[in-house]
Amino acid sequence: MEKELIIILDFGGQYAQLIARHIRQQNVYCEVIPYYIEFDKVKAMAPKGLIFTGGALEAAEQDSTASASKFYTLGLPILAIDYRGQLNNSPTPIATIEEPERSLFGQDNSSKENESKAIETLRNFLYNTCGCSGSWHMTTFVDRSIKQLKEKIGNQKVLCALSGGVDSSVAAVMISKAVGKQLTCIFVDHGLLRKNEGDEVEDIFTNQFDVNLIRVNAQERFYNKLAGVTDPERKRKIIGEEFIRVFEEEAKKIGRVDYLVQGTIYPDIIESGAGNSKVIKSHHNVGGLPDYVDFKEIIEPLKDLFKDEVRKAGLVLGIPEKLVNRQPFPGPGLGVRIIGDITADKVKILQEADYIYREEIAKAGLDKQISQYFAVLTNLKSVGVKNNERTYDYTVALRAVKTTDFMTADYVEIPWDILGKISERIVNEVEHVNRICYDITSKPPATIEFE
Ligand code: XMP
Repeated sequence: MEKELIIILDFGGQYAQLIARHIRQQNVYCEVIPYYIEFDKVKAMAPKGLIFTGGALEAAEQDSTASASKFYTLGLPILAIDYRGQLNNSPTPIATIEEPERSLFGQDNSSKENESKAIETLRNFLYNTCGCSGSWHMTTFVDRSIKQLKEKIGNQKVLCALSGGVDSSVAAVMISKAVGKQLTCIFVDHGLLRKNEGDEVEDIFTNQFDVNLIRVNAQERFYNKLAGVTDPERKRKIIGEEFIRVFEEEAKKIGRVDYLVQGTIYPDIIESGAGNSKVIKSHHNVGGLPDYVDFKEIIEPLKDLFKDEVRKAGLVLGIPEKLVNRQPFPGPGLGVRIIGDITADKVKILQEADYIYREEIAKAGLDKQISQYFAVLTNLKSVGVKNNERTYDYTVALRAVKTTDFMTADYVEIPWDILGKISERIVNEVEHVNRICYDITSKPPATIEFE
């Protein structure tokens, strides 16, 4: 099937990604490209239409106006969404959508009239003016990707660092569907995962997907490296570096591979500057690239997908919903949720408390409404009383936030009775915890994690 493509030329605005998601939701595939891309590249991509957005940064105005006009010669239909440059020298009429925040993305529900008119303009542009057929569906994408991966990889060997997170899991399953056991996944258990998580990952990938999985139980190694370390950034660095070392050691045993899989997704690519949008997010990935793994090329099967699309692809591939809709979990794991130094005992306490918290939130049906929620083991010890005896034990803090982009977040108002039940269960069931606090700070000024 012909791949229908719409190109969004990003002239430096804030809407490029939102527009892209909106268009894909209309089942039309699109990509965000910076306005200064070489003209010939755009031509070679053979898009069916162009969208202009942003622009008119004073210094760049002349430059971008000049860039815009060269695209007119392609003779393609153009839609301007919040485009601020000059349009008056275009040879053909250009459709426009102004104030997309209000009119297209429906932030302001009072302006239904504007909203539907803008959506109509967009649909009309995609389907009538550009002649797109709406063939972008996740099943088609997944099937096509598997076919392309099969052709590209042939009978060569692929290596993947599986974290149990959504992106690496979806990437791994997609590749295993393409080339079966030519793929080897290395899953490093750093001992800072949530309760049972290591076993769950192993179970899914070996029993449900028949992936060649090597689980490295490196808990002791990480705990030894982390002993006595209290500074959050040092903890992150140690965990990240150790992760790479363990991965490299395992990879060496396998020998030369042809491809290394990365779970890079589309926002990572736009944010690292392939698009033109302002870089806001700092990357927190564990690790980075291993230095001593012998491979010839990196393979990134999800590099065209937004996060919600990665989840859809995961469901199409048959990955359990629980894993696909998993809340974000930081690479350094519980390492940044244990304030101060980390010990195996503290990890155990936190795992148990966090498990109860998650269980009760799910039971109350709140898990789908909260973006991220977890327990934190503070390093505060205080006096309590249990069975008529004095205790001197830890305080566990509970956090729950609602956010769309994780750059800002609001704390969630969990009903008191549910919080009360969670508190009661944790102090009764988890040894060495005698006090529970609920965090009622938003981000900013607090961050989502405690460290
Ligand atoms: P903060 O705490 O910065 O968190 O408000 C924002 C989001 O990023 C996640 N986070 C991390 N993810 N490695 C990661 O992979 C990290 O070191 C890290 N620190 C924070 C956090 O869970 C939240 O979703």
